[in-house]
Order: sequence, then C-alpha cells, then structure tokens
Amino acid sequence: MTQDKLNILVLGSGGREHALCWKIKQSPLAGALYCAPGNGGTGLVAQNVDLNPENAAEVIAFCQNQAINLVVIGPEAPLVKGVSDALREAGIPAFGPSAAAAQLEGSKGFTKDLCAEANIPTAAYGRFENAADAHEYLKTHPAPIVIKADGLAAGKGVIIAMNDQEAHDGVDMIFDGAFGDAGVQLVIEEFMEGEEASFFVLTDGKRAIPLATAQDHKRVGDNDTGPNTGGMGAYSPAPIMTPALIEQSLDEIITPTLTTLAKRGTPYTGVLYAGLMLTQHGPKLIEYNARFGDPECQVLMSRLESDIVPALMACAHGDLSDIALDWSPDTAITVVMAAAGYPGTYQKGSQIKGLEAAAENGAMIFHAGTQEKDGVTIANGGRVLNVTAKGETISLARGIAYEAVSRIDWDEGFCRSDIGWREIERQKS
Ligand code: AMP
Ligand code: GLY
Repeated sequence: MTQDKLNILVLGSGGREHALCWKIKQSPLAGALYCAPGNGGTGLVAQNVDLNPENAAEVIAFCQNQAINLVVIGPEAPLVKGVSDALREAGIPAFGPSAAAAQLEGSKGFTKDLCAEANIPTAAYGRFENAADAHEYLKTHPAPIVIKADGLAAGKGVIIAMNDQEAHDGVDMIFDGAFGDAGVQLVIEEFMEGEEASFFVLTDGKRAIPLATAQDHKRVGDNDTGPNTGGMGAYSPAPIMTPALIEQSLDEIITPTLTTLAKRGTPYTGVLYAGLMLTQHGPKLIEYNARFGDPECQVLMSRLESDIVPALMACAHGDLSDIALDWSPDTAITVVMAAAGYPGTYQKGSQIKGLEAAAENGAMIFHAGTQEKDGVTIANGGRVLNVTAKGETISLARGIAYEAVSRIDWDEGFCRSDIGWREIERQKS
C-alpha cells in the first residue's frame, strides 16, 4: 500500500454493497478493498471475506490484521448492534451511525417519540406493550390504520389494515411473536395517503448534504400489487421531489431530527434515509433507516460523479464541511430480478446465465443474492440481481435495463415489468 491510499472494508452482501464497492473501487484513494461477507458480484471488484458483519470482535480483528483505514457499514443490523461504536473505540474510522443514533431505524417507537418531541410531521400514533391496550386503542381509531412491530423485522413488520378485523388480527399476530423480539412492542399509526419518495442525506451530525432523489417500488407485483418487499426497483432522480419539497423536508424533518439527536449527546453520522409520504399537507415521515436504501443505492451510485471515498471518510471523521457532490443529469433505473416465490419462500441454487451478454448494451448488473461457484453464477437469495442502466431520459434508461433483463437466462427468476411507471405516466400527462 502506498501511504496515501486507504484500505477499505465494506460490510454486507446485497446489491447496495456491490454498488458501494463498485463506486469505491473507482476512487484514486482506494487501496485494498474487501467486502464481508459479499456476494458473487462484490467478488469481482473487491476481495470477499468470510466474516460475520454483526460480530464486532471479528470485524475489528480483521481490520487490525489488514490495516483497514475505513469500514463502510451497509446494512442496519450491525449498526443497531453497535459495530460502528466498537470500531471507533478501537480507533478504526467507520461510516455509519452509533447504536444510539441507529435507534432511528431500530425502534419505530423511538422515532415516533422523537418526532413528537421535535414537532416533525408524521402519522399520529400510539405505542403499546400489550395486546389489550392496543385493541382498546383500535376501538377509537378505525381502519384504514397501520400496525407496526417496533423493532427490526427485515421490512416485513408492517401491516396496512384496510378493515378493523385486519387491524385486530395484526395486533395479535405481532404480540403472538410473528416477528420475534421485534414485536415485543408495537406502534399503531394513522394511515397516510400520498406518493412515497426516498430521501437521503449524508450527515456529520450537524450538516446535512442531500443526495440525489430516488423512488423505490415496494410491492412485488406490477401496478404496485401483492405484498411488500425490500424493493423491486428504483430510479433516480425522482422529479416529484421538487427543490421546494427537498427544502421543506430538510427544514421540517431532517434538521430537527439531527438537532434533537445532537442535543441528546447521540449525534447521527453517516447516511440518513427518510421514507417520506408526500401528502396533501406536505411531506411526512413514514420511517427512518440508518443506511442507504437497497435498491436506491444502486441508482444513486450510478449517477454519482464525485469520488465517494472522501465523502464517506468525512462522515466517519464527523466533518463534511469540505464535501460537495456532483450528479449526472441522466436518469438511472434499476430492475430487481428475484427468485420465484420471493418475498415468500423461494429456492436457492439455480444457475444464472447470460450476464455478460446482458451487460453488453451498457447495463450494469449489481449482484445481490448470488454466489460464484467455479465460474458459474448461482442464485443464493430472494433478491438476486439489480439490472441497472442510465439514459438521458427515464424511457431510454428503462429500455436499456429491460433489454439487458431479456438477455439474462434464468428461468427461476422474475422481475416487475413496470419499474419507473409513476415518472413515465407523469411525463405523458
Ligand atoms: P415502513 O417499513 O415503516 O417503511 O413501512 C413499509 C411500507 O408500508 C411503507 O413504504 C409504506 O408503503 C407503508 N406504510 C407504512 N406506514 C404507513 C402509513 N402510516 N400510512 C400509509 N402507508 C404506510
Ligand atoms: N428500498 C427500501 C429499503 O432499503 O429499505
């Protein structure tokens, strides 16, 4: 390693981490690059390392052996478990919030209480520790209403109850342990109507630099039907997030959140992801995540023109004052290919062919649940590939992405055929 290069470890194994590794690898500052545990795609740009990202002692030992200068924490679980705190205590710079600040994602009740304290627009709510009180609350709060397990439930702990029976059943299901410890408490909240947008900022605890806008597609099926997933596709920019809405979201939601956490002595550093509902009465917070969205990260990294490494390092060191980010004016889109059955049960182990041919038209394929075995790509998860393309317009980007999808030979996979539909509809009208 030459002195000024940085050895970097990325924690995680999704499409988000492949996109982060891909972007970091392009930096002139990047020295050795590792991903733990990684996937078939990260192994093409970084060295995959077999260690458990949630085990701080394992991560620290690896960092000390390999002289790691920066750890980028992709998913929420290590953050909520305090891996970034442990790294910092060991003198290793980490991109990602402390466990205390990551409670914004780790506990929905924590976030709702913070919103109440700081007067942040969000759905009205109640917090409950037992079923009897929750059922009682429902008597005066009829459907449609939303029932949420308090803790981390891999995106599955939310029940949108369209009638009162579903609401009562949801309460029982959560307190009966459907989401394990995540459901020891629950939140019941008002159903909000509007369009959703994902809003990301990089923050050092004081300053917030908004990233490009993006929109996700949460439902598994075309026309936004079927159960919620981690996200079936995304595009950026999302012009529905106008400069005025960005400003309003910063002023009314992000800034008071950062100020409140700093005042409590638990400043938030890293990337903060606000899931927003754009209602008739302005943007309201649906939830916070303490990390990049997946698959939103894939489209953001595709459009980011600046070197990402100084920005990650500045967050880790708590000073973003010298950072400015430039974005491509193009639209980026990513189409998730998932294993048949996802988000329910699905098979692993099927072979995926045609990835090289698919990339020939300029698409970039970020891997999620894949594994490389003897030069063969094997499906190894629910969301498996992120077929990503950029173009001058959303229609051009979408054309390239779906053309690439059609070249992928994987019978056991499926994708939505309408990623980007909201923006395409808007442009027609
Ligand atoms: P969450 O995990 O809190 O983001 O919830 C998952 C999804 O459920 C969100 O992306 C929304 O589509 C939906 N959702 C959550 N809370 C509400 C709410 N209060 N009103 C309407 N939809 C909601
Ligand atoms: N795309 C939604 C998420 O990352 O939670």
